[in-house]
This record gives sequence, C-alpha cells and structure tokens, in this order.
Amino acid sequence: MSFELVCQVQDIPVGRVAAAEVDGVTIALARTGDREFHAVDDVCTHANVSLSEGELDGCLLECWLHGSSFDLRTGEPTAPPATVPVAVYPVTLEGDDVLVDVQSPNNKEN
Ligand code: FES
Repeated sequence: MSFELVCQVQDIPVGRVAAAEVDGVTIALARTGDREFHAVDDVCTHANVSLSEGELDGCLLECWLHGSSFDLRTGEPTAPPATVPVAVYPVTLEGDDVLVDVQSPNNKEN
C-alpha cells in the first residue's frame, strides 16, 4: 500500500467529483457522503474521456459522452456502451486528509 495525500475533505463538496493526479495517474475522486470518498481511474473504458466531468448520482458516476454509469464501489459499468470496469483505488481518511493508493487497485490485478 502506498497512500498519497490528494486533498482535504472540505475541498470537494458532497455529491461532487474532481480530477486529481496521483503518482502519474489521473483519478476521478468522488465525495458521496460526509466522510465517504471513492476513487476510480479518470478515463472512461469506452473512449478516452474524463469521467470526472460526468454526473455523480449516489455511488454511480455517469460518463458525459455516451451515458454509461460506473459503480464507484466495484468499477463495473451498469449500462452500455461501456463493458469494461474502471480501476477502483483504495481511499483512506486521516483527519481531514484524503489519501489514495493508485498502486493497489481493488478490482484489477497488478
Ligand atoms: S466514452 Fe464513456 S460511455 Fe462512451
């Protein structure tokens, strides 16, 4: 595990998603609750567009281009056209610091 500091809890309002760079990987970091964050790879698996520019609906992040939604807990697309999951990265909070580990995705083999 190699957690890196990404931002402070208060930097992202609840219900919003933001792009961030961690160890050379661009992630979409979503705040789904007061102290609940999810991090996934920012690139949609259907085409090369940024998921952090999509719409957040609970734990679903909808790609703005063709409308596939990805479950932030599993990375799985819930609707076509995307069929391949996005990488889901572990997130931990230390006080108000939000840390993400892009070296150890939860749902992909390294
Ligand atoms: S680019 Fe994301 S669903 Fe097509």
